[in-house]
Amino acid sequence: RYEITQREAAAEILPGVRTPLWTYEGTFPGPTIESRRGRPVIVTHRNELPVPTVVHLHGGRTRADSDGYPTDLVLPDGWVDGHAHGGHGMHDPRAVVTRRTRDYTFPLDQRPTMLWYHDHRMDFTAPAIWRGLAGLQIVRDDAEEALGLPAGRRELPLMIADRAFADDGSLVYPALDPALRRRPGVREPYLAGVLGDVILVNGAPWPVHEVDAARYRLRILNGSNARHYELEAVTDDGRPLALVQVGADQGLLAAPVTHRRLPMAPAERYDVVVDFSSVPVGGRVRLVNRLGSGRTRDVMAFRVARRVADDSRVPRVLSDDLPVWRRSDAVRVREFSFRAGRMHGGHGWLIGGLPFDPARSDVTVRLDDVEVWRLVADVHHPVHLHLVGFRVLSRGGRPPLPHDAGLKDTISLRPGESAEIITRFDGYRGRYLFHCHNAEHEDMGMMANLEVI
Ligand code: C2O
Ligand code: CU
Ligand code: CU
Repeated sequence: RYEITQREAAAEILPGVRTPLWTYEGTFPGPTIESRRGRPVIVTHRNELPVPTVVHLHGGRTRADSDGYPTDLVLPDGWVDGHAHGGHGMHDPRAVVTRRTRDYTFPLDQRPTMLWYHDHRMDFTAPAIWRGLAGLQIVRDDAEEALGLPAGRRELPLMIADRAFADDGSLVYPALDPALRRRPGVREPYLAGVLGDVILVNGAPWPVHEVDAARYRLRILNGSNARHYELEAVTDDGRPLALVQVGADQGLLAAPVTHRRLPMAPAERYDVVVDFSSVPVGGRVRLVNRLGSGRTRDVMAFRVARRVADDSRVPRVLSDDLPVWRRSDAVRVREFSFRAGRMHGGHGWLIGGLPFDPARSDVTVRLDDVEVWRLVADVHHPVHLHLVGFRVLSRGGRPPLPHDAGLKDTISLRPGESAEIITRFDGYRGRYLFHCHNAEHEDMGMMANLEVI
């Protein structure tokens, strides 16, 4: 049982200035919640912010009434509008609105992994996350702990997120990477999503973390609204260290996959082991973003402080419980396009030609059915499904890429790409969502209802 108060707070993120934030419990990120597989957690959220909120546990397999549907709002005390209106005046008759507090129940009957809790208010998710409403939750079990992966001090949850700041320290939203602002032909730049020019890791700009010359488990979340990364770990003398992926969004892989560079779309999580033992004491390893330029090229750094014994390991077999669904198991194949289009008289982002409407039924699936979904993109869209994890079946008609391994809940569709995913809609009946996790795209319509019956 946890209690979290959502409230305004200020933090010194950049030296010498205070940044006003919306927070869970006064910090950004919010408190990391540690939990055990199959042991339910009830989180009582109290909303002391000036706006309605709703919490979603991203990657959690949660009953619909605790999944944070965008109109299931918790209103602040003095909020006069009693309706669960979206920003476009839509009324959702199924919304369950409470005042001031709400209990969210998370069964956590799922593979161990790192989850992300964040705000999910209709039309306002992106600015709410930007202002600080995000935190991590880790699910563990005995089997994973018995593997001998780096643990304790040598396990680092890393929430990477870009932000932009005004001179007085306040966050600027919307904001854009100056590099993008200069890009010719960008007429409606925010349509692409909001980018900042400061890279934060766990709320600190470009941190330098002291490490032993040993293996570390980096549990990385791209918690950015719209920024993509291609991570690489490089030593002072330009030597890349292997990024040994042990887990994906929904837990451990079957076997490790070694990357030199790791692409990360918004909302993706990668569980990666990096071995610093070849780095001399005093040496540094920079985690860089190959897609960034100027100061957004750096993410963080590790400084090797001491040489010590390391009894951690990366076993050749990590898990044997990954679901294997075959194309022939699927009772249905659906296709969805993720494209720009007109909505409410302006520009928006659409799924299958339509902007999000809580009152419309988009997709109805039967509990326990296996389905193949074909997802087609115009530009980059990280597509996320609530409730279930899925496997990537194909990309552009070809086999999945190395970083598609394991069980995912977000797939990064690249420009012009079509990909197929397969999943079993097990868990719970009820109303869920799927959407683009470019947070601005999501707020600008790129979300749809997924009803499990
Ligand atoms: Cu990260 Cu619908 O969520
Ligand atoms: Cu989610
Ligand atoms: Cu998108």
